[in-house]
Amino acid sequence: MNTILETRDLHFVYGGNSPTAQTALNGINLTIREGEFLGLIGHTGSGKTTFVQHLNGLLTPISGQILYRGEDIHANGFKLRGLRFKVGLVFQYPEHQLFEETVARDIAFGPRNMGLSDAEVAERVRQAAAFVGLGDDVMDKSPFDLSGGQKRRAAIAGVIAMRPEVLILDEPTAGLDPYGAFQILSQIREFRDKSGSTVVLVTHNMETVARAADRLVVFSQGTVAMDGTPEQIFGQPERLEALGLDVPQVSKVFMKLRELGIDVETSVYTVKYAKNLVETLLREGGQVC
Ligand SMILES: Nc1ncnc2c1ncn2[C@@H]1O[C@H](COP(=O)(O)OP(=O)(O)OP(=O)(O)O)[C@@H](O)[C@H]1O
Ligand SMILES: [Mg+2]
Repeated sequence: MNTILETRDLHFVYGGNSPTAQTALNGINLTIREGEFLGLIGHTGSGKTTFVQHLNGLLTPISGQILYRGEDIHANGFKLRGLRFKVGLVFQYPEHQLFEETVARDIAFGPRNMGLSDAEVAERVRQAAAFVGLGDDVMDKSPFDLSGGQKRRAAIAGVIAMRPEVLILDEPTAGLDPYGAFQILSQIREFRDKSGSTVVLVTHNMETVARAADRLVVFSQGTVAMDGTPEQIFGQPERLEALGLDVPQVSKVFMKLRELGIDVETSVYTVKYAKNLVETLLREGGQVC
């Protein structure tokens, strides 16, 4: 797979030289491949939001580089404005993203800035709103009158309407009930499957990344602590817990079985996989690994 985004030794400090200066990124080297679904997890304050805000040039590192398709995005001559359309970022707090008078205008903001025709903008708004499940009845409302879930949908629609090559979502399911979270995640997966876009999903929700991601990266104190497939990452539950992270519920059940002396894998992280293993266990009477 081709590399679409790469960071080299990225450092960032909030507050510059002030006494309250806070190091947020402490040398991040990461390669994001075209078309992958990357889950970014880590304890609160580990630098996830700061990191993703570097990927579209919203924040500038104090040292290190961000390469988009091999080009340094802060080099002279690089069109940073154009990058914002290609690397779309859905903010952690949708309120920070929504500002227009109506939902329709908000979703239209990105495509309009891309210089598309009125007809094309209208078509993209219609498609993006339908995709995230926002009905016609909300399109003329103020985004601030929407429910929490609808605000998220509107923020996601505004980014999807730009048809970005990389879709970055910072905690898109935070504060939603499990069904709302499931719906949004299904839409993100569908978007990725239809468009072939690269997705970077930042989340605290282990069940969410366990279901969706091809690869997981774990941040700790502004560094990359772990990087691998969900099997590899969830196969190290003690390490995850030491980094202040939870493991999916189903992994916990399998860890418990192991403690009870039953020889099962601890890298089990989806209910479907667990079901197959339990069936084998029941059939074979004990040895499943
Ligand atoms: N605007 C800011 N001013 C000062 N320090 C900040 C600011 N934003 C974040 N920080 C600090 O930078 C570090 C990284 O924060 P960041 O928000 O990137 O973490 P995060 O992994 O996204 O956390 P969360 O899971 O809570 O969203 C933390 O120590 C945080 O307190
Ligand atoms: Mg954050």
